[in-house]
Amino acid sequence: MTYARIGGTGSALPGEPISNDALIATHRLDSSDAWIAERTGIRSRHLADAAETSSELAATACRRAIEDAGCEANDIDLIIVATSTPDFVFPSTATLLQAKLGIVNGAPAFDVQAVCSGFVFALAIAEKFIASGASRRALVVGAEVFSRILDWTDRGTCVLFGDGAGAVVLEAADGPGILASAIHADGRHQNMLSVPGQLSAGKAVGDPFLRMDGQAVFKFAVRVLTDVAQEVLAKAGLSTQDVDWLVPHQANVRILQSTAKKLGLTMDKCIVTVDRHGNTSAASIPLALDVSIREGKIRRGDLLLLEGVGGGFTWGATLLSY
Ligand code: ACO
Repeated sequence: MTYARIGGTGSALPGEPISNDALIATHRLDSSDAWIAERTGIRSRHLADAAETSSELAATACRRAIEDAGCEANDIDLIIVATSTPDFVFPSTATLLQAKLGIVNGAPAFDVQAVCSGFVFALAIAEKFIASGASRRALVVGAEVFSRILDWTDRGTCVLFGDGAGAVVLEAADGPGILASAIHADGRHQNMLSVPGQLSAGKAVGDPFLRMDGQAVFKFAVRVLTDVAQEVLAKAGLSTQDVDWLVPHQANVRILQSTAKKLGLTMDKCIVTVDRHGNTSAASIPLALDVSIREGKIRRGDLLLLEGVGGGFTWGATLLSY
């Protein structure tokens, strides 16, 4: 049996951290550092400037991941980018990334659109390519510039998000690696979180900004994150007690706390980076993973439970031995 294991990780954040107070002052928001920190756990985030794109952030994260894996860019034979803020309608951000990395070996490159669950969707797809023998070494990336789709007059959403990218090199291996994964969607909940606009005749038609029913998202997220964590643990024949680190999508610290509590995990087993990154959508899990590995928290051999939930609605989890 061929397993898929993480050979290396990397991440990228644009510019300097922007505090809640600085954000409030720039956009003249009727808000406060205390409100944002108390309701969301967010204290700062990074925001891309007008010239920085998802593919640019992805390229920086991937160069770091490739170096960490000890391979060359042209050893990569599959590129999957999870993003909801692509550089263009097309070509895909994955092909732009491929060119930026100088990968000229004909490797397939494509984007996955599952909003904040995008990285776990991309990981599940890449794992199937590797397990089937179709790929030996994949780049799996989450990259976002959500600042481009925020309504800076809507204090209920614009304080929640940040920009960034995270990447892993996923390699074929004789031992684990990924032990179990599960991905799900239910399109009936499309209106709970969406950017309902589109491009037509050269113009944005409809509403081009992110809209959200925050309380409905909160309840839905905690329920499906708990369920899908239990699903992958059951698939692998393991229990929450075996988990060394929960690496959840970083939406809001209260969602993380509620999910950990429902799973019977203490917060000292839960990776939290939402305080300094905000919600970076598809980038949040690989960013949290890379930062925690480089800080020495997550170590080789640890059992990790990665899980995400996002617009669509979509949700999923991956259980893996790092
Ligand atoms: N500063 C000050 N006041 C605010 C702000 C703000 N930034 N935003 C909203 N408020 C106000 C509201 O206007 C409202 O005022 P009112 O009572 O005068 O009408 C009051 O605060 C309460 O608003 P609620 O929406 O009820 O606040 P709630 O406690 O639900 O917190 C929040 C809002 C933080 C968005 C919460 O619902 C939440 O965390 N939901 C989860 C959503 C989430 O994390 N989404 C991320 C994207 S989805 C994903 O990644 C899966």
